[in-house]
Amino acid sequence: MEDVNIKITDRDGVIHDIVAPTDMAMNLMEVVRSYELAPEGTIGVCGGMAMCASCQCYVLSKTELPEMGDDEEAMLSEAFDVKDNSRLGCQIQITPEMEGLEVELAPES
Ligand code: FES
Repeated sequence: MEDVNIKITDRDGVIHDIVAPTDMAMNLMEVVRSYELAPEGTIGVCGGMAMCASCQCYVLSKTELPEMGDDEEAMLSEAFDVKDNSRLGCQIQITPEMEGLEVELAPES
């Protein structure tokens, strides 16, 4: 079992140092929810289907992330507050490669 350290800045600008498991098939949105870093109902609205953008986050570290899928790209092209480093948290699986990842949650839209 391997855990990774992730820094997540919440929507109030508070930085949280999180330890996330890599062996539970969790994605970043689920990690945010399990640590209650965003109020219930404001993140993960579509259940992780790349259909709501409530899990949008900005990637601050140089961490190598998996390529965006078509669904993610399409959703982000319609979402608000999108930046060059925007990703959908629900599309990012927690793997050992995520060690040191730093993200900031996008504002609620
Ligand atoms: S939870 Fe809806 S797009 Fe990620």
